[in-house]
Amino acid sequence: MYDPKEVVAKYALSLIEDRKVIGLGTGKTVRKLIELLAKEGYLEHRSFITSSVDTDLQVSKISPTSVISPFSGVIPEIYIDSFDFLIEGEKGKILIKGGGGALLREKVLSFFSKYRVFIGETSKMFSGIAVNVPVEIVPAAFSLVRDRLSFLGFRPTPRESNGKIGPLVTDNGNVIIDIYLPTDDLCDKEKELRGIPGIVETGIFCENLYDTIVVGDEEGRIQVF
Ligand code: 5RP
Repeated sequence: MYDPKEVVAKYALSLIEDRKVIGLGTGKTVRKLIELLAKEGYLEHRSFITSSVDTDLQVSKISPTSVISPFSGVIPEIYIDSFDFLIEGEKGKILIKGGGGALLREKVLSFFSKYRVFIGETSKMFSGIAVNVPVEIVPAAFSLVRDRLSFLGFRPTPRESNGKIGPLVTDNGNVIIDIYLPTDDLCDKEKELRGIPGIVETGIFCENLYDTIVVGDEEGRIQVF
C-alpha cells in the first residue's frame, strides 16, 4: 500500500526539472511535497512563493532564506498545489479548492504562474450532482452575502475557526462561507458569484487555471490529465 499523497508529490517533484522559482499551494499534499523537496536538497537551491502563511512557515523553518515575498512580483516557473475535488465538467475538468482556506492566493498564483500542476488522490475525483464550494468574502459584507447566497438556494455555511469565536479569518483578513452548488455549470456559476459585491474569490478552478492534473492511488498508480 502506498500513501497516494506521497505518490503524487513524488511525481510533481519530477516535473520541477531545472525550474528555479516554484509556487506552492497549501495543505497536507503540499506538506508531503515540501518534505520531499527538503530530502532532495531542493529547498536550499530553489526559491519559493507560497500561497499561505502555513506553507511559508513549512518552507522557511527548514530553509529560512528560500521564500520570496509575494510582493516581489516574481512569477513562479512552476506552481504545484492540490485540490479537494476533481470534477469532469461539460467543457473540461474543474477543480474545487479552498479546503484549507487559502483559495485566494492559490488562485492568484495559478493564474500568474508559467506552468500549473495540481496533484491529488484518485478518491478526490467527484461525480455527484452537487458539491461543496468555498467562497471568500470581505468581512463587512459577510451577513449580506450569506443571506443572498441563502436566497439563491446555495445553503451557505460559514466556515468556523478552530476553537475561536466567530468565523475563520483567512490570511487576507477575509472570511469563508461554504456553499453547495450543482456540478453542471460551475464555471458559469463562478462568474455569477464573483458578480456579487463582497465576494472576493471562489474555490472553483476552471480550465484557464491549470495545465496538468495528476491523480494517484494506494496501489501507486498515477493518471496524468
Ligand atoms: C487549500 C486547498 C488544498 O489544496 C486542498 O484543501 C487539499 O488539501 P490536502 O492536500 O490537505 O488534501 O485547496 O486551500
